[in-house]
Amino acid sequence: MKEAKKNDIEIIKLNKVYLDDKKNSVKALKDISFNVKKGSMLALLGPNGAGKSSLINILAGIVNKSSGKVLINGCDFELEQRAAKQSIGVVPQELVIDPYFTPKETLEFQAGYYGIKKSDRITFQLLKKLKLEDKANAYVRHLSGGMKRRLMIAKAMVHSPQVLILDEPTAGVDVSLRELLWQNIKDLNKKGTTILITTHYLEEAEALCKDVAIINKGEIVVNENIKKLVKKIDKKVLKIYFDKLSYLPNGLKKIGFKKKKMMKFLLIISPLITLLILLLMK
Ligand SMILES: Nc1ncnc2c1ncn2[C@@H]1O[C@H](COP(=O)(O)OP(=O)(O)O)[C@@H](O)[C@H]1O
Ligand SMILES: [Mg+2]
Repeated sequence: MKEAKKNDIEIIKLNKVYLDDKKNSVKALKDISFNVKKGSMLALLGPNGAGKSSLINILAGIVNKSSGKVLINGCDFELEQRAAKQSIGVVPQELVIDPYFTPKETLEFQAGYYGIKKSDRITFQLLKKLKLEDKANAYVRHLSGGMKRRLMIAKAMVHSPQVLILDEPTAGVDVSLRELLWQNIKDLNKKGTTILITTHYLEEAEALCKDVAIINKGEIVVNENIKKLVKKIDKKVLKIYFDKLSYLPNGLKKIGFKKKKMMKFLLIISPLITLLILLLMK
């Protein structure tokens, strides 16, 4: 019998190098290692360009890694790709759904791609779970933005994966829709799905997850319990020294900077903003 695995995702020394238009190499992921425990929900937090989508796309099998190892539900992505892919559902950052299909057709076709027999498909359970049952036969192009996002989640779950990965699912969506999506994601996690969610909002990571991995410039800079992390930041004072600044710009005043001495500014602001500024400065 296969030993029960403690981690549903194991990422070991993962590297990704792209070549840009001028053939210069861009290191998008640098020796990344972290795990996501079975049944847990981990936030991968980082600013734009940090490497979040590169990592997600490697897990989705859309982008090839340069080196390193990825295990999904104990299966090596390279050696047991089929088994690994069966265990994972990925909701990409961009909406990828055909506007001329209905939600029901979208899920039926997706299940077909996975080779799931008609009698084994869970189309209606998924539509119900994601509160789309009323729209089962409407054209996707007539759905609201929030409904389309929920359909993307349902589409990633047609094969009942143990692991669901969501790449910035609430980027650019309004507050009420964001909360609804958060609730959907929490419900899936409560029912046992392991979730990895990428975001550039610390607030989102805090609302959903106990643990956070922070990625910046392709490196994991923090991987720990969010509450503990925020407590630590609370105790910190960040001093920023500017060389050529003789006055304090309004933008900095607004987020809490105070001028201490000539050329020196002391930052006394909320821990969340401090964390993001620390990240951006690294
Ligand atoms: N296909 C690509 N070709 C070249 N560079 C890329 C490609 N995709 C991403 N990058 C670069 O890799 C880095 C990480 O990008 P990405 O993974 O999209 O970050 P994030 O999702 O955190 O915003 C960026 O510098 C980006 O420009
Ligand atoms: Mg991205």
